[in-house]
Amino acid sequence: MFFERPDAGRKAVLLQVNFKSDFARKAMTDSADECGDLARTAGVDVAEIVTASRTAPHRRSYVGEGKLVELGSRLAAHGADLLVVNHELSATQQRNLEQALCCRVMTRTELILCIFAEHARSYEGQLQVELAQLKHAQTRLVRGWTHLDRQKGGINLRGVGETQLELDQRMLSERMKAVQKKLGVVERRRGQGRRQRRRSKVRTVSLVGYTNTGKSTLFNALTQAGVAVEDKLFATLDTTMRRLAIPGVGEVVLADTVGFISHLPHTLVEAFKATLEEVTGADLLLHVVDASDPDNHERIADVKDVLKEIGAETIPTLMVFNKIDALSTPGDCASDGGVWVSALRLSGLEDLVRAVGVEFGVTSPTEVLLPAEDGRTRAWLYDLGAVIAEQINEDGSVALTLRADAYLLERLSRLPKVLLQTVAGQPRIYP
Ligand code: GTP
Repeated sequence: MFFERPDAGRKAVLLQVNFKSDFARKAMTDSADECGDLARTAGVDVAEIVTASRTAPHRRSYVGEGKLVELGSRLAAHGADLLVVNHELSATQQRNLEQALCCRVMTRTELILCIFAEHARSYEGQLQVELAQLKHAQTRLVRGWTHLDRQKGGINLRGVGETQLELDQRMLSERMKAVQKKLGVVERRRGQGRRQRRRSKVRTVSLVGYTNTGKSTLFNALTQAGVAVEDKLFATLDTTMRRLAIPGVGEVVLADTVGFISHLPHTLVEAFKATLEEVTGADLLLHVVDASDPDNHERIADVKDVLKEIGAETIPTLMVFNKIDALSTPGDCASDGGVWVSALRLSGLEDLVRAVGVEFGVTSPTEVLLPAEDGRTRAWLYDLGAVIAEQINEDGSVALTLRADAYLLERLSRLPKVLLQTVAGQPRIYP
C-alpha cells in the first residue's frame, strides 16, 4: 500500500526458526505445520519448510548470512517469490530480508490478517480487519521502506515541509480515525442488542473452538441457518447469531464466533474484542473440539488460553467433541466428558441440545397440574418445548410432565393459583 516492496506471488518457502534460549522459545513455539495450514488458507502454496536454529534472532535480518544464502537458493530452486516467516519480525528485519532475498517477506501476523481480510463478511468484521491492517501498517513505517523524500507525480498531497514518511503516517492516522468512528457506531448498536437480550433474559450460547473444528457446520446443523462452511482455517470471522429452541428453557441465542488459533497475536485479539464480546457476554460456551485431530489436547489448551486472555475463562463451558464420524478409534476424548457429535452427519445433536438444557438447570421431569380453563399456560409451556407428556383428567384439568429449569419453575410458581411443592426431592406444582 504505502511501501515499495517486491510483489508477492502464491508460491512460498516457509521459514521456521527454533531458538535455544528459553525466553525466545516460549514466545515462538508456533509449529511450522500450523503455519503451513495458515498459508494454505491464505491461498499460498508452501513449497518447502526451511528450519534454522539460533540462540536469538539476528538483530538486522532475523537469520544469519549463511541461512540467507540457503533461503535465496531454496526460493530460486522452487521459483518461489514469497518467504513466509513463522514469527514476528521488526520492520527493519523484514525490510532487510526483502532486500537481501529480492522477494516479499510475510510474517505470521500478516498471514493471519490476509486470511481475516478474505473471510470478513459483515460490515463490522471488515472494519475490524481494516483497522487491524492499518495498525499493523503503522508499525511498518520506517525510514528506507516508504517512498521517503521522493516527490510523487501528479497532485502533491504533502503539507509544507512534510516528508513522505510523515505523509504516510498522517494518511494512516486519518484513515484509522475514520474507521474507528464507523466501528464505534456499529459496536454501540451491537452493545444495545446485547443489553436488550439481557433485559429480556434471553440467554446466549456461544460456539468457541479452534479454527476448522466444525463450529459453522454445527451452527448450521443446530439452526439450519446456512452460514458459509469452508475446509480452510478461519472460515468464520464474524459472529453470526440465530435463535435456537432448548426444551425446558425456551429460545436462546446461538452465536457462531471467529475460530481461535494458538498464539493469536495480541493486536488481533484487541482488534476483534468487540466480536469476542459475544463470547465474554455469553451464558454458556460450547467449546467445539475436532475429536479426530490427534493434537486436540493442545488445541483445547490453546483455546483455553485465548478464553483466559479475553476474560471468559469462568463462563460455564460444555465440551463438544465433533467429527466423531471421522474417528478410527473412538474413545480417546471420553475421559474429558462432554457431548459427542457429528455435525456433518447430524448425529448426537439431540443429546447436545439436552445437555445445553441441563447446563441451564433443566431438572429431571416435573409434574404440573393446570386447571381446565388455563389453556394459556399450557400453550406457553408447549411453546417453550418443555412438555414431555400430557394427561387430561376427568375434571378437565391437565397434568403435564415437564422438562423445566429452575427459572421456569419459579415463574410457574408465581402464576395465580399455582402452588409449588416439593415431593420426595422433586418439585411438584399444583393449581
Ligand atoms: P473456522 O471458521 O475456521 O473457525 O472453522 P469452523 O470451526 O467453523 O469449521 P467449519 O464448520 O467451517 O468446518 C471445517 C471443516 O470440517 C469443513 O470441511 C467441514 O465439512 C468439516 N466438518 C465439520 N463437521 C464435521 C463432522 O462432523 N465430521 C467431519 N468428518 N467433518 C466435519
